[in-house]
Amino acid sequence: MRVVSGIQPTGNLHLGNYLGAIKNWVKMQDRCECLFFLADLHAISMPHNPAELSASTREMAAALIAAGVDPEKSILFNQARVPAHAELQWLLNGTARMGWLNRMIQFKDKSGKNREGASIALFAYPVLQAADVLLYKATHVPVGEDQKQHLELARDIAAKFNADYDTDLFPLPELYITGSATRVMSLRDGRAKMSKSDPSDASRINLTDEDDMVAQKIRKAKSDADVLPSELDGLDGRAEARNLINIYAAVADVEPQAVLAEYAGQGFGAFKPALAELLVESLRPIRERFVALKDDVAATDALLAKGGEKAAALAQPTLDEVYRTLGLLR
Ligand code: TRP
Repeated sequence: MRVVSGIQPTGNLHLGNYLGAIKNWVKMQDRCECLFFLADLHAISMPHNPAELSASTREMAAALIAAGVDPEKSILFNQARVPAHAELQWLLNGTARMGWLNRMIQFKDKSGKNREGASIALFAYPVLQAADVLLYKATHVPVGEDQKQHLELARDIAAKFNADYDTDLFPLPELYITGSATRVMSLRDGRAKMSKSDPSDASRINLTDEDDMVAQKIRKAKSDADVLPSELDGLDGRAEARNLINIYAAVADVEPQAVLAEYAGQGFGAFKPALAELLVESLRPIRERFVALKDDVAATDALLAKGGEKAAALAQPTLDEVYRTLGLLR
């Protein structure tokens, strides 16, 4: 099993980022060969501030390490340090079809009404993502539900390339959808995703929040006056209650059903303090490591550079094969 996954380098990390991807990565690195990277090349597909991009790439790297991604076990790097990603993308641009990309939901969402003004990079974003995984002949790609379509596109590109050039160069990567509790919602509105851009800071738990702040945000989180049900369908129509149960389950590494089994019949007056304590205890060591590492630019850069070298070495044979297959002389 070779696992490859990327994450967009956003600043202001919160619980949603941690439970959405990072925690799963940490679990996987003991079981498989893993390559994890910061998708900084993808970040230029939208208008961006260069200084902020460098800062959030480093910040995200520090957060990943603080959360337990171990550069000794996994290969951790930022895309821009491995030019093979961009090279393979160009080579795959010959295989990807306009029609396929035209159907991508994320492009439609992000370009909105301004399709004509969207960047070529935004349109070709899924091709770079395909290159990210095919470059390492990934067998499994852990992503959330929202990236399913991009993964299917990577498979389509791989299959067409193999068929067009009569080769079996690319294995088709399997989608590895990670847990149901990974969609962490706002603490103020159970129907909106927890997001760094929500104007209300009370809507999210930041990785830098101190213990008291974490506990206070849970205490003030929106919930309801009913007791907790014993079965999951008892949470239907109770988005905030469901979110808090899901958060507990994800942090404790148990199924939401198991959380209900323990708290059925109790109200939020009992459940919230338990959740607050669990979160405070689990996030504290991560925050402490994160705070210690986040301003150590030299250390983070050195780790990313080392990861980049390892990744580049794995990528080179695939890239060479692709050039050769396409008849490109080098
Ligand atoms: N597009 C992914 C996201 O926004 C990030 C990403 C880039 C990715 N390249 C990847 C994920 C390759 C998995 C594999 O979440």
